[in-house]
Order: sequence, then C-alpha cells, then structure tokens
Amino acid sequence: MNPLVLSDADYKAVFERITQLALEYVASVGDQPSFPKITGSETEALFAKPLPEQGMGNCSLDDLDRVIEFVRVTSPRFLGYVLGSGEPIGAAADLLASVLNQNVTAWRSSPSAVTIERVVVGWLAEAIGCTGFSGSLTGGGSSANLMGLALAREARVPANECGARPGTVYASEQIHMSIPKAIALLGIGRENLRLIPCDDNFRIRVDLLRTSVERDVRAGLTPIAIVGSAGTVSTGSIDPLPELAEVARESGAWFHVDGAYGALAAIAEPAKFAGLNQTDSLSLDPHKWLYQPLDCGCLLYRDAAAARRAFSHTGDYAKSLVDDPVEGFAFFEETIELSRRFRALKIWLSLRYHGLGNFREAIRNDLTHAQLLAGLIAKQPELELLAPVALSAVCFRYRSRNDADRECDALNQEILQRVVRRGKVFLSNATIHGSFALRACIVNHRTTPEDIEQVVSEVLAVGRELSAG
Ligand SMILES: Cc1ncc(COP(=O)(O)O)c(C=O)c1O
Repeated sequence: MNPLVLSDADYKAVFERITQLALEYVASVGDQPSFPKITGSETEALFAKPLPEQGMGNCSLDDLDRVIEFVRVTSPRFLGYVLGSGEPIGAAADLLASVLNQNVTAWRSSPSAVTIERVVVGWLAEAIGCTGFSGSLTGGGSSANLMGLALAREARVPANECGARPGTVYASEQIHMSIPKAIALLGIGRENLRLIPCDDNFRIRVDLLRTSVERDVRAGLTPIAIVGSAGTVSTGSIDPLPELAEVARESGAWFHVDGAYGALAAIAEPAKFAGLNQTDSLSLDPHKWLYQPLDCGCLLYRDAAAARRAFSHTGDYAKSLVDDPVEGFAFFEETIELSRRFRALKIWLSLRYHGLGNFREAIRNDLTHAQLLAGLIAKQPELELLAPVALSAVCFRYRSRNDADRECDALNQEILQRVVRRGKVFLSNATIHGSFALRACIVNHRTTPEDIEQVVSEVLAVGRELSAG
C-alpha cells in the first residue's frame, strides 16, 4: 500500500472538511473583526510546532480552525494597502486548479489551461480598452513590472548577450517601490531612475519630465523607459498617459504603465484612463481590483516579439517540434517562469459566472464609496482630506488641537494603531507632502456605505479619546 495515496473515502472526508471550512469562512466575513486579536508570540506558540515524522491523518486538520481564526479577515471593512477581497467563485476554481496540477508553460504541456490563460489575458486587455495586446499572468504587480521593464531594457539597450549598458528610466516621485526594485534587479541602477516631481494632484509634471529627458540625451545617455502610473499607491492619481506616450515616442523610450492598483478600474471608468492603449507594456492586478484570490497579476504588451526577445532562452530539450502556431505556443518563451500555475482558471470561472457587467458595477461602487468617504470627511471639522480622490484611495487625518505637523503626525499614528486594534475597520497609512496620513483604499466588493460611515465614526471616536486625554 502506498501511504501517500488515500482511498476515495479518505479523500472525500478531507475535501468535505476543507469545503465546509471554506463555506463557513465565506459566510462569516461580514461579522469578523477587521484584524485578528493576537500577538506575534502567540502565533509562534500556536503554529511553530515540530516537523512531524509520523502522519497525523485527519487530526492534521484540527488546527485549521486556528489558522482561520488568526488570518487577516477579508472583512468589508478591511481597507488597508491595496488588497482585493477574494471572490469565492475564483477561490473554488483555485482549489480545482491545484488538484488539476497543470504546468501552464506550453500548449503541449496543458492544451486547455494554456488556451484559457491566453483567452483570459485577451479578455482583460479588451475589458480595459487594450484589445489586441497579449501577455501573461504573473504572481503579482511587482513581477509584472519587473517583466515590463525587462522588455524595455532588451528593446532599447539589449543586455541579454553582452550585459547591461547604461541608460535612464523616468517615473514620478509617487511611483511604487516595485519600479526601483525592478531597475536594481535589471542592472540599470537606481541612480539612473529619474524621479520627476508631481503637480498638486500627484501626477507627474510632464514639463519637468521633458527637461530631464532632454538633459540626459544631451549628456549622451539613452532613455530606456518612461514609466507612468495608472493609480499611484498612495493617492490613486493617474499620470497624463497620452502626454507620457508622446514623450516616449519623441525620445525613443519604451512606455510602461504600472496599473497594478488602478488599471482594472478602466472597466468602469474608461475616460479616466485615456492613453492606456498607447503603452508598450502595462501591469495590472486581478488580485486587487478584480477581487480575485491571491495570487494573480498580469503583464500586457503590444508586441509579443518584444517579450520573446527578452525571455526566449529555449533549451534543446524544450524546443517545440510542431509548426501549428497554437500547438507550438509556449509561455516560457515570453515570461520569466518555466513551471507556471493555472492562475487563469479562477478569472475564467469568476468572469463567466458573474459576467463583466457585475464586476464593472462593483468597481463603480468602490469609486462611489471613496467619494462618499471624502464627502463625510469634508463635513467633519476635526478631519482633513489630504489629497484629491482620483480613484478609491482616501488620505486624511484627524486634526490635532494645534496643527503643528509633528504633533499631528504622532496623534494620527496613535489613532491608526488604536483603530486597527479595535478591530472594526482596518486602515493603513501614507505620507502626503511629508505628513502622516490615514489611508482607506476601497477595492472590496463587500464594502457597503455603512462600512464607510464606520471609518469616520471610528477615527472620530479614537481621535476624540486621545485629544481629551
Ligand atoms: C501601484 C502599485 N504597483 C505595484 C504594486 C505591486 O503589486 P503586487 O503587490 O501585486 O506585487 C502595488 C501594490 O500595492 C501597487 O499599488
């Protein structure tokens, strides 16, 4: 008897228990605290147990209750960072994807899975107004940005054969940290990333961008890429994409857009994202604003040949022997990964089950909720909105008795910690013009107007408590 292979009945018991736990979790998310009440040492005490030499059988499932009790809950009032809310149909598909255990690397390794990923990538492109782009699903926005900049580097200063050559990359000072990280990893060097100041709406100053590019060109440097943001992480601002496309065209630079946070909102508000279809590559994150379970990012590109130039390193053992373009297709020729998970199944099933229209509606609700929150903040003299609300990120603070910045920062830091500890709403923070801001980011299909009202009442309650003390 092979101890790793169970009977149908034993498998059924395990799968039924897992399904039951999953369904209980989904049913309970509305009532859960927005963050579990537990300390670091308590989690260690609970879970840091010796590696079992002997199998525990069904007893191994017992601790799953504790795992679930102390995860960060996908509550409708979890509004920190840019964290999607986990759509359960996608989650069910993810379980099946794991059971199917497909290697989505080439048509010949998994015909239906590879075809579905190509279809889903096409759907995503079409949904945001970039019909005709191709691409692939990734672990997240950071890897999509890394891959986008790898395409840029190979297109403008090819490095695959002879090593990295100097060149410059341009982005606003609001750019997400995954861009400098990618530039470091690609050997371009962070000193060659020009961080361009923003206007009052946290959008890149195109006049200063032009000056910077011209200065570098005069100095003999090669502009590799201009990176725009379609939703900056702090405030959700969207750079003027058509103008960035023009500067890229004029300077011969690649045009990449980091749309990990915002680009999928083009499904609901295409006008805000004019110019998205003028990019050479762009990242988006279905695990953020398409509410899909982690992990699932996506890189789209206009020209698949550019992706192959960057990533094709086929060993003899992997060469395709067929002429048919569909059957010969290989993701590993266009991506970093060779072995790849069947990420597309969750998007495919979730989109087919609900329809794009319902996602559009959910994204619209998030945008409306952000405006609702901004409006409620504006009505409270004790609160101050710190940045325009371009998408669904709302940055604000509680005013201290005297508005000296340092005192205000310290007060709001304390407010944030106490609000999170109270467990009713979860906020994170941002730095706006050097000041500490409370930040709510609404990419949550379960959030209601009442949840938004609770953000205000919680911050006011804690702010008043601290100010009185
Ligand atoms: C604007 C932006 N870009 C990139 C990322 C990175 O995405 P991921 O966390 O999926 O790697 C984020 C994450 O919040 C983001 O907000």
